[in-house]
Amino acid sequence: MDMAEILKVQDLKTYFKLQDGLVKAVDGVTFSVKEGEVLGLVGESGSGKSMTCRSILRLVPEPGKIVNGKIFYNEMDILDWPESRLVQYRGKEVSMILQEPMTALNPVWTIGEQMMETIVQHEGVSQSEARNQSIELLRKVGIPVPERRISEYPHQFSGGMRQRAMIAIALSCRPKVLLADEPTTALDVTIQDQIIKLVQDLQAETGASVVWVTHDLGVVAQLCDRVAVMYAGRIVEMADVIELFENSRHPYTLGLMESIPTGELKGKKLVPIQGNPPDLLNLPAGCSFAPRCRYVMDACRTADPQLRPVKPGHFSACIRFEEIWS
Ligand SMILES: Nc1ncnc2c1ncn2[C@@H]1O[C@H](COP(=O)(O)OP(=O)(O)O)[C@@H](O)[C@H]1O
Ligand SMILES: [Mg+2]
Repeated sequence: MDMAEILKVQDLKTYFKLQDGLVKAVDGVTFSVKEGEVLGLVGESGSGKSMTCRSILRLVPEPGKIVNGKIFYNEMDILDWPESRLVQYRGKEVSMILQEPMTALNPVWTIGEQMMETIVQHEGVSQSEARNQSIELLRKVGIPVPERRISEYPHQFSGGMRQRAMIAIALSCRPKVLLADEPTTALDVTIQDQIIKLVQDLQAETGASVVWVTHDLGVVAQLCDRVAVMYAGRIVEMADVIELFENSRHPYTLGLMESIPTGELKGKKLVPIQGNPPDLLNLPAGCSFAPRCRYVMDACRTADPQLRPVKPGHFSACIRFEEIWS
């Protein structure tokens, strides 16, 4: 039997109306996440990954607006909900680990106060029970001597420890869906591996679904069941992880795969894809990837490429995939 789809995003458009023009940060994105599944959301910086996640929480920063689409959580469109219903939803049902822990943690509160606040608010337990749960969570994410560190402030934690504390806070209410927005990008490879392991353990334990945002396909290979590749606000390819690595049908995905550092280069500099990342205020006509694509043809410069099935469960938006991989 198919697992239920806990989260369904349909034709989501999140735009920024700026003085210089309209930025289509998320431009017609459709995907779903099954219960217990880990979905990777990959793409270079600026491709719309964070705004997709923030839209799912209805936390798009000004002047950004969700201008189209539906976001179903357990078959309920959260875009219909009043703000009051979102308090329970954020944190308890869908929770997010942000890219920059320093902006997400409150500098004037101790780590313990921030964790306990969330737990008391969502679980309705006593202060002392919330404190015990917080200490246990900090222990689980690998913070040494948590009964002491719980009384420290964010600035007393190292970058890696802050990120672990963020993860502990995000997991403290056992969310059904965890949105992890590049949670390991700023960390060194060893800590990155530990955090990936930690999320895997906790996910196995609670059966939560995870959307793992990254620009690093190496991490995707380690962690994800399925992958959606984003470019200039759109999903350009989507497939099961093995299918994507063995049978990609999009030139952009191929470029990303070639940029994975392997062997002794792991964790070192990425080899960038040729050409410049797209300027969303000045997208070229046709396929947004065309100016960088080694397979570009005239038709690509006028097409409006839509995701099409390659085979069941595998979709590509390249208008030439049949020819290129014939
Ligand atoms: N606060 C903002 N004001 C204006 N434009 C923004 C803002 N945040 C994001 N954008 C636009 O949205 C695009 C997608 O951003 P984002 O989702 O953060 O990308 P990613 O997470 O993939 O790096 C960016 O390229 C930028 O053009
Ligand atoms: Mg981002």
